[in-house]
Amino acid sequence: MNKTWAALALIASTAAMHAATKIVSGDFGKTREGELVRIYTLTNKTGVEVKITNFGGRIVSLRVPDKEGAMGEVVVGFDSLEGYLNENPYFGALIGRYANRIGHAQFTLDAVLYHVPKNDGDNSLHGGTRGFDKVVWTPRELKDGGLELVYLSKDGEEGYPGNCKVTVVYHLTDSNELRVDYAATTDKDTVVNLTNHSYFNLKGSGDILGHVLTLSADRFTPVDSGLIPTGELKAVAGTPFDFRKPTAIGARIENDDEQLKLGKGYDHNWVLTRTGTSLTLAARVTEPSTGRVMEVFTTQPGIQFYTGNFLDGTIKGKGGQPILRRTALCLETQHFPDSPNKPAFPSTELKPGVEFNSTTVFHFTK
Ligand code: BGC
Repeated sequence: MNKTWAALALIASTAAMHAATKIVSGDFGKTREGELVRIYTLTNKTGVEVKITNFGGRIVSLRVPDKEGAMGEVVVGFDSLEGYLNENPYFGALIGRYANRIGHAQFTLDAVLYHVPKNDGDNSLHGGTRGFDKVVWTPRELKDGGLELVYLSKDGEEGYPGNCKVTVVYHLTDSNELRVDYAATTDKDTVVNLTNHSYFNLKGSGDILGHVLTLSADRFTPVDSGLIPTGELKAVAGTPFDFRKPTAIGARIENDDEQLKLGKGYDHNWVLTRTGTSLTLAARVTEPSTGRVMEVFTTQPGIQFYTGNFLDGTIKGKGGQPILRRTALCLETQHFPDSPNKPAFPSTELKPGVEFNSTTVFHFTK
């Protein structure tokens, strides 16, 4: 193939990859401050449907087929905007400016000590008091059926330096992939860690202990009692953190293991086994009774696997159903927690003139 043909073939495959059959939008209500919020429905040719709101860039609903072809809901969330405006643990949300924890809610950058909000004991979690999950993003429906969301996080917002412009694009492809492309730029040195915090249950309801997980990771980052990494990259071999072979999530979750006790289950970052920064398979989840499978591909170095240990039924989700402990799982592709204080971890620093980019793909099969 000559160069021109190769280029055309690439463009064609990219276009096909991005082709979502339809995007429609509607009103989703107003924030407490009176800002209008929209909801977008992306539907592909197989009938897979994802609903996303520009409030927090949240995935509100995701319906994928089971082994009989029946469409069913696989993410936890609320029927209306009100639920998202109330206190909830980041259901479906985009997380930033710094996803996951920053120890003692402070870090030093260019010899300046920055303080960020303490909203998780002594630590800062998921961007602080009003992170990217609680703001209204500027939406744009793309010609190729994607949804672009833009948010400008101002210099000093939640304690972070630099005006940071973040663009997230959601695409639903005809091969049942939900693709999330993240980009960020800044006008001052800053730190950035972006993820999506969807809670999945491939069965639709009940606990997720029978879901079978594979993680492409030889090591994980053990934590202290505040769930801050100790800095060690510990081999998973011989521990309940070894998911290199497909294993039921519930098989070892109650083992007498210090790390499991600290997390009240799984709530840890795994170090993805990768060469380079290309899109690689990070996780695979299968749900035996429905036959649903979700594969997570990412360009990121880590993944937080969280088994919904802190869910306790006090929040009522879709259909008014209480959201109970361990009835959903998160696979948050990310940089490692507390990287701004861990020089040996892959860097989360972003400088002016450089664009941060990452991609995560959730691929549904059966
Ligand atoms: C954290 C959990 C936390 C949850 C909701 C996850 O990313 O690792 O510890 O409870 O988010 O805030």
